[in-house]
Amino acid sequence: MKVYFRQLFDRNLLCIYKEGKNDFESKEYIRKKVVDNQICMIAGTSGSGKSVFSNTLANEIRKCGNRTVIYVTEKESDELANAFHIFSPTKSYHVTGLERQHIETNTLPVKVYHPFTFNIPYKHKLPPMTFFGYSLKDISEEGFSTIIPTESGISVDICLDVKRIMDKKDSFYDFLWELHQRVNSEFKIDEVFNPENLFVPTESAGDKRTIKSVKSAFMPFRQDFMILPDDNLNILNYVDLLNDNEHVHHLTTKYITNQKVKTFAIVEFLKGIDNALRTGLVKNQLVLVFEEMKILIPSGNLQGYQQELLKLIRTLFSRLRTKAYVIATAQSVFDINSKFRTLFSKTFLGKLNFADIGVLNKVYQFTKVDQNKLYSLKVGDFVLWESGQYEDERLSDAIHIMLPPFANAEEGEDFFHKYKAEFKEQCVNNVGLYNSLKELNKKFESKRIESLKLWIKESDEKKVKKETKKSGQVDDAKDKLKKVQSEKQDIIMKQVYTLKTENPDMSWRDIAKQINITHPSAKKYYNLYKSIIDNQTNLPRLDKDNKNPLYKLG
Ligand SMILES: Nc1ncnc2c1ncn2[C@@H]1O[C@H](COP(=O)(O)OP(=O)(O)OP(=O)(O)O)[C@@H](O)[C@H]1O
Ligand SMILES: [Mg+2]
Repeated sequence: MKVYFRQLFDRNLLCIYKEGKNDFESKEYIRKKVVDNQICMIAGTSGSGKSVFSNTLANEIRKCGNRTVIYVTEKESDELANAFHIFSPTKSYHVTGLERQHIETNTLPVKVYHPFTFNIPYKHKLPPMTFFGYSLKDISEEGFSTIIPTESGISVDICLDVKRIMDKKDSFYDFLWELHQRVNSEFKIDEVFNPENLFVPTESAGDKRTIKSVKSAFMPFRQDFMILPDDNLNILNYVDLLNDNEHVHHLTTKYITNQKVKTFAIVEFLKGIDNALRTGLVKNQLVLVFEEMKILIPSGNLQGYQQELLKLIRTLFSRLRTKAYVIATAQSVFDINSKFRTLFSKTFLGKLNFADIGVLNKVYQFTKVDQNKLYSLKVGDFVLWESGQYEDERLSDAIHIMLPPFANAEEGEDFFHKYKAEFKEQCVNNVGLYNSLKELNKKFESKRIESLKLWIKESDEKKVKKETKKSGQVDDAKDKLKKVQSEKQDIIMKQVYTLKTENPDMSWRDIAKQINITHPSAKKYYNLYKSIIDNQTNLPRLDKDNKNPLYKLG
C-alpha cells in the first residue's frame, strides 16, 4: 500500500492496491484491483474522521474481489454506529461531498449478530438481529481463560478436557456437573493409601477452588444465555457468514452488561472466524474492522484475560495476513497497548489533541516538518506514519479520505432510533426466541435437579447402609437418616434464598417449582434463611423430628 498522489481537489488520496516493484507493475495492480492485505491502525482524536476512514477503506477493499466485511468491535454506548451502511447519506456536507467526488449514493444491506442474553428487550420491536449462541463443545482455551481467573491455570486445562467428553446435547450445567465429578472422582479416598500419592489426600483446597472459580465464571451465563449445546440451532455457521458478501456483518454486544462476558463473546466470535478459515471452506477474502481497539486491549497493565486475548489476536492477525485486511481504530496512539502496537503494518495518524502530539514528539522525536504536518491536519485528513518524501520525515503528506456512499453515524444519531424511523415495518419482537430459550434453560435445570436429587439419595443410602452394616443397629441408622434429611433441608433453604436474591423478580411459584417444593414453603424458607443471615447466627436445625415437614422430600 502506498500513498497515491493522484490529486483530487488539491488533496492526496490513499491507494489501497499492492505496490509493484516498478511503476509499470504498480499500475497493473491498480488496473487489476489487487489489494495488498494490511493490518492498519487508524488513530485520531474524537471527531477526526476515523469512522469515516475505516468505513471508506473497508468499502473500497470490499469492492475489489467481493470481500466479506465484518465489524467485530464497536464503540460502547454507540453500538452499531458502523451499521449505518443501510442508510442513505442525508447531511448536506455528505451529499454535496459525494457530488463533488462524483460518487453515487449506495447503501448496503447489513446483518447484525448479538450473542443471546435474557437481557434483550424481547417484547420491544427491534431491528432484525441474529441472536446466536456458542457451542459448549467449541469453547476455546482463550474463551475459558477470558472468564476464569488466571491463578487457576489448571482449571482451564480441566475445562478443556471435560468439554471434549460432553455430548452434543449437553448444557453448561451438565458440563459443570461433569467437572465436579471429574475433580472429585479423581481423588477417591482409597487413593490416599496409595504410596504413590505419598499418603497425602489429593482432594486439596486447590481442587475445591477449581470448582468454585469455574462455577462463578459460568454464573453470568444463566442470564447471558449464550453457551448452548452443540446441536442447538442458534449456533452460528461461520463458514456461511464468511461466504456471504451480500451483507456487511456487524457483531454487537449491546445488551450484555458484564465486561468479561462481552470480551468472551468477542473472543469466541474471533475463534469462530479462525476455525472457519482453517476448514478451507471460506472462499472469500475478508475485511475485519475493530473500532475502538482499547475495548479489547487497553494500554497499561493487562489483566490475565486480556493477555490471553493479546495472544489470540497476535496469532490470529499473523494468520489472517493472507486472508484478511484488518482495520483497527483508536482515539489515541497511547490507547493501544505497547505490546500490541508492533502488530500493525501501517499506522495512520489523524487530527490528534495537543497533549498527544507533545508525547509523540517526545517519544518518537519527530522533525519540525513532521510536527507541522501533525498540527495542520484537518478533519478527514490522515498521514501515514512510516516514511515520508524525505529521509528525515517519517510522516507522509496529508491524505484526504473520501466519503463513503452510505450514511455515517453523526453526533447524537443512534442506529436503533434511525432504523425504527426508516424501516419501522421491518422491526420485530423476539418473544418467540426468548420464550424458547427460557424453556430450554428450564429444561436444562430440571434435568440437573432431577439427577442431583437422585445423586443425593444414592449417596445417603450408601452411607446409611454402611452404618447399618457396621453397627448392626437399625435404630441408629434411622437417626442418621433423619439427620441427613435435616441437612438436606438446610441446603434447600439456602437454595431458595440464593435463587430469590439473584432473581428478585422471580415469583415464589417459579422458585418453588425449580427447587421442587411447595410455594408457601419457598417463601417461608427464604424468610427463615434471611433472618439467619441477618442475625449472623449459625444455621439451626429445622424441625429435627420431621413431624411437621415444611417440605416434601423428593
Ligand atoms: N473524510 C471526511 N470528509 C469530510 N468530512 C469528514 C470526513 N471525515 C469525517 N468528517 C466529518 O467529521 C465527523 C466525525 O467523523 P467520524 O465519525 O469519522 O469521527 P471519529 O474519529 O470516528 O470520532 P469518534 O472517535 O468520536 O468516533 C463526520 O460526521 C463528518 O462530519
Ligand atoms: Mg468513530
